[in-house]
Amino acid sequence: MHSLATPVRALVLLKTAIVTVSSDENHFSQANILLDEGAQRSCITQDMADKLNLKHESNEIITFSGFGESDTNVRHLQVATAYLRAQTTDLIPINVLIVPKIAYLIQTYARNQSNIPNMVIPQLFRLLVCFVLTTEVNGHLKTKCNFSHKCRCKTSGTKYVEVDCSHSKLKNIPKLPRNVSNVDLSNNDIHNIPEHHFKDNDILTEINLSLNRLHTLKKEMFYGLKSVRKLHMNNNNLTKTTKDAFSYLQRLSYLDVKKNNISWRNNKVIFPQSLLTLKIDYNSSEENLPEMSHLEILDVSGSSGHCYINAVKPDTFRSVPKIYGLDISACKVNYVHKGSFSFMRNLSILNISFNTCLRFDGLENVTIDLPSTSIKILKFNKIHKTFQMNTKILKQHLSHLRYTNLEEMHGDSNRIQLIEDGAIQQLPSSIRKLFVSDNEFSYGQYFFDFITMQIEFVNASFLFSSRRDNEREEKCERPDESCCKPIHTSDETISRFSAAWRVLPIPRKLRRVLYKDCFLRYEIPQYTVFKNIVKYVDLSYNIFYSWIGPLLTFDHVQFLDLSNNICSNVSKIFFKSVPNVTTLLIQNNLLGFVLPDDTEGEIMRHMQALQMINLAENRIPSLPYTFFKSQANLKYIKLGGNMMDNITFQMNHMKQFSNLDLSNNRISSLDEHARGHLEEVYKVNINFSIDLSGNPLKCSCDTIEFIKWISTTKIMIQNKHKTSCLTSHGDPESLRKPNRVFEKLQMECSSYSSLIVGTVASLVVFLFVLLWGIGYRNRWRLRYMYYMVKNKYQVQNKGNSDNESLYEYDAFISYDNNDRFFVHDKLLPCLERKAGLKLCIHKRDFLPGNDIAGNITSAIHKSRQVVILMSHNYLDSYWCMFEYNMAKVESIYSRNKENILFLVFLEQMSPKDLPMMVLELVQSHSYIEYPNDEFGDTVFWNKLREVLSQ
Ligand SMILES: *[C@@H]1O[C@H](CO)[C@@H](O)[C@H](O)[C@H]1NC(C)=O
Ligand SMILES: *[C@@H]1O[C@H](CO)[C@@H](O)[C@H](O)[C@H]1NC(C)=O
Ligand SMILES: *[C@@H]1O[C@H](CO)[C@@H](O)[C@H](O)[C@H]1NC(C)=O
Ligand SMILES: *[C@@H]1O[C@H](CO)[C@@H](O)[C@H](O)[C@H]1NC(C)=O
Ligand SMILES: *[C@@H]1O[C@H](CO)[C@@H](O)[C@H](O)[C@H]1NC(C)=O
Repeated sequence: MHSLATPVRALVLLKTAIVTVSSDENHFSQANILLDEGAQRSCITQDMADKLNLKHESNEIITFSGFGESDTNVRHLQVATAYLRAQTTDLIPINVLIVPKIAYLIQTYARNQSNIPNMVIPQLFRLLVCFVLTTEVNGHLKTKCNFSHKCRCKTSGTKYVEVDCSHSKLKNIPKLPRNVSNVDLSNNDIHNIPEHHFKDNDILTEINLSLNRLHTLKKEMFYGLKSVRKLHMNNNNLTKTTKDAFSYLQRLSYLDVKKNNISWRNNKVIFPQSLLTLKIDYNSSEENLPEMSHLEILDVSGSSGHCYINAVKPDTFRSVPKIYGLDISACKVNYVHKGSFSFMRNLSILNISFNTCLRFDGLENVTIDLPSTSIKILKFNKIHKTFQMNTKILKQHLSHLRYTNLEEMHGDSNRIQLIEDGAIQQLPSSIRKLFVSDNEFSYGQYFFDFITMQIEFVNASFLFSSRRDNEREEKCERPDESCCKPIHTSDETISRFSAAWRVLPIPRKLRRVLYKDCFLRYEIPQYTVFKNIVKYVDLSYNIFYSWIGPLLTFDHVQFLDLSNNICSNVSKIFFKSVPNVTTLLIQNNLLGFVLPDDTEGEIMRHMQALQMINLAENRIPSLPYTFFKSQANLKYIKLGGNMMDNITFQMNHMKQFSNLDLSNNRISSLDEHARGHLEEVYKVNINFSIDLSGNPLKCSCDTIEFIKWISTTKIMIQNKHKTSCLTSHGDPESLRKPNRVFEKLQMECSSYSSLIVGTVASLVVFLFVLLWGIGYRNRWRLRYMYYMVKNKYQVQNKGNSDNESLYEYDAFISYDNNDRFFVHDKLLPCLERKAGLKLCIHKRDFLPGNDIAGNITSAIHKSRQVVILMSHNYLDSYWCMFEYNMAKVESIYSRNKENILFLVFLEQMSPKDLPMMVLELVQSHSYIEYPNDEFGDTVFWNKLREVLSQ
C-alpha cells in the first residue's frame, strides 16, 4: 500500500472508486475507495466510521507488519459492518476493520472529482476500503466461468479474468479465452498439455499446474505463451522432456519443477535466460546444475522436493554465480568444502538448515566463505541430530562472521547448551535478530556477552523441548568428533536465575524478547535490570509461579505476556517493573488466589498506561471495587473463563472502556447494581460492548428485569448467538433476539403472578369462608358468650352478686309484640298471679339502658325455663328468633343440654312453615298448642304451670 506524504500528480496504481456507503438507513456518505486486490481485509478510517455512526461489533487482535518490516505489531481493532450501495440499490455488506488513519493521496482526487454530483467533502472524511481478494468491486464474487463450468472466474476490472480451476478433477485443460491473466489448474488429473493449446493466451502471465500427472514436456505445448512469468509444475510425474521445452517461454522468471522424476541435466534442458527463480530437485552425485548466469533465487531444498548433496564443493553452484538466495536445506549435506560460496558476491540469504550431519564444524566451513558474500540472513536450524549429545558453540564456529554484515541468524533446534566465552563477541555488530529456540541453554558467562550485542530481537523459546520429534534420523557419513565428550559446566554458571544474580544483563538495543514455552520453574525475584529499551516481552508457557519482583526497571515495555505460567502469587510491587505496559496478557494462571484480596488496588497501581488486560482463565471469583482504580486508559478487559457471578469492580473512570469480556463465568443474572455500573460506562463511551456468552444466565420470572435490560440496553451484547439462558423449566433459550425472550417471559410471568394472586386470593377467601362458616355455625354460641361476658362484667361493676338464688325467674317468656295481648291478658294472670311463678317479660323486666341483646341473654341466663310463644309473627321477628337461638345455646352450653325451651303454638302452623331448628324442638315433644277454647284452656294452663314449676 502506498503512502504519499504530499499530493503528487502521478498515476495511482491501485483502482479507486467513489461509492455511497452506509451504516444503516439513516447514515449515508460518499466515500473514496481504494481497491487493493492483495489486501486480506477491508478497512475504514475512524473518521468515516464516526461519520457513518458505525457501531462496532467486536474486537480483533491483529498482528501487522508494515512494508519492509519483519517485526509484527499487535493491534486491537474494532470490527464493524458497512454497506456499499450497488447500482441496483442493493446494499452489499462488508466487514471492515476500523483503523485510525490510512495515509492516502486524496486531495488531488477531491479536486479532480469535485464536479461529481452528490459528493460530500471527501477531503474531510478519508476513507479507504481495501477489498478481500474474493470480494468483487460490484458485488460479484467468484462465479462459474462461462467457458468451463468446473472453473470459478473472477472479473477484476473489465479486462482481465482470473480463473480458478483447482481441485476440479479436470482431465484436460479447458480452452481459455484470451483475456485470462492467471489460471490455477493445480490439484487435478491433467496428464498432458495438447500442442498449441495456449496459442491465443498471449497475455496469460501465471499458470499453476502443480499436483497433476504431467509426464512429458514438449516445446509446442507452450506455444503462444509470450507473457508467462510464473509457471508451477511441481508435484507432477515428469519423466521425459525435450531440451527446448521452455523455449517459447521467453519471459519466464519463476519456475517450480520440484518433485518430478526427471534429470534436467541428462536431457540437456535449456532454461530461459530470463529466469530469476528456480525451484528444482537436485542430486549432485548425478548431475550438475544447468548454466543460469542471471538466476537470483535457487531452491533445491529437500523439504519440498528431492535433494541430495553429500558434499558441497566449489563447483557445485558454479553455474549460478549471481545467486542472491540459496536454499540447500534438507539436502543430506555432510561436507562443505571451503570456497563453495565465496564466489557468490550477491549471496544474501543462505539456508543450510536440516542437514543434521553438518554440525557446527561443518558450519565453520560455511562461515569461512561468507565474508566475501553479501550475507544478511543465515539459517542453520537443526544441523544437529535430535538424539545426540548437547552441543557447545565454539569461538571458531562464528569467528568468520565477524567480517560480514549479517543481520539475522537462525540456529533453532541445535541442542546448544553452552557457548564458549568470547564466541558471542565474534558476531558482527550488524546483527539484529537472533532465533535460537528449541535449544538446551545452560546459563553461563556467555550470557553476559550478549550485553555488548546490538541485538534487537531474540527468540529463545521452547527450551528443552525438541520440536520435531517424529522424523527419521539421518545416517551420517562423517563421524562426529565432538560427540561423546560431555560438556562440562561449572556449578557456578549453571545455576539459572539464582538469587545470587542481582543484575540482569540486557543488550542495549534489544526490543523484543521471546522466551516462551521453556518449562522454567522459577519465582521471579527482585532484579536490577540494565538500562534497556525492551518493548515486547513474551514469557508465556513457563512456570514462573510467583511474581515477586520488582525488576527495575523495564520502563519501555509495552507488551508483556506472562500467560500460562501457573502463577498463583503476584506481589504488590511486581508490576512496578513495567510502568508503561499497554497490553498485559496474564491469562491462564491462578491469580484468582490473590487478586480478590487486593482491596486497595495496589497490584495494578503502577500500570497507568494499560489499555488491554487479559485475565481470562484465572479462577477469579471476584475483583475488588478498586482493583482497576489506576487504569483510566483501559479499553479492553478480558475476564472470560473465570468464576465471577457479579460485576463488582469500578469501571466508570475508564473513559475509553470499550469491551468487557465476561464469557464463560458463573453469572446467572446481573442485578440492578451491576447493570447500573455498565450503563454508567456506556454513558461515557457509546461504543461499549460486553460479552456474556457461555454464562449460566437465567430467564425466569426472578430475572425478568435482567432480561428486559438485555433486550433494551444500547450496550452492544457480543456473541449473542452463543449467549443463552435457562428457563425455569431448564431449557436453554437463545438470546440472539432477547426482546422475544423478554416478551415470552413477560407473558409467562404475568400469568404466573396472576396465578400467585389468584392462589393467595382464593386462599384468603377460603379461610374467610371457613372462619365465617365456623363462626356462622357457632354464631349463637359466640353471641351468647359475648353477651354473657358482657353481662357478667356489668354485674360485677354494679357489685351485684348472682348467687342469692340460682334463677331469678322461673321462665323467660319469648314472644312477638303482636302477641302481647295474649301475654298480658292471659299468660300473666294465669301463671304469675294464680300459680305464683316469676316470669320475665321483656316489656316489664328488662333493665332500661342495657342493650336489648344483652338483656335477652342475661334474662335467659337468669331464667330456669324459656317459653316460646310461637306464631307466624314470631318467626318473622328478628329479636324473637334471637331469643330462640340464645335459649338453645343456653340449654346446650350452660345447662348441660338440659332442655329449657318450651314451645307454645299460639296458632295453627303447618310443619313446612317452621324452620328446621324449630321442628327439632317439636320432635322432642317440648311443645303445647294453645287450644283457644274454655275447656282446653284449663288443661293448657295446668300443663304449662306443671312444666314451668319443675
Ligand atoms: C484530473 O487531474 C488530471 C491530472 O491533474 C487532469 O489531467 C484531468 O484533466 C483532471 N480531470 C478532471 C475531470 O478534472
Ligand atoms: C508416473 O509415470 C510412470 C511412468 O511414466 C507411471 O508408471 C506411473 O504410474 C505414473 N505415476 C502416476 C502417479 O501417474
Ligand atoms: C572443511 O573444508 C576443508 C577444506 O576444504 C575440508 O577438508 C573439510 O573436510 C571440511 N570440513 C567439513 C566438516 O566439511
Ligand atoms: C514510562 O513511564 C515513565 C513514568 O512511569 C515515564 O517517565 C517515561 O517517560 C515512560 N517511558 C516511555 C518510553 O514511555
Ligand atoms: C453485586 O455487587 C454489588 C456491589 O458491587 C452488591 O451491592 C450486590 O449486592 C451484588 N449482587 C449480588 C447478586 O451479589
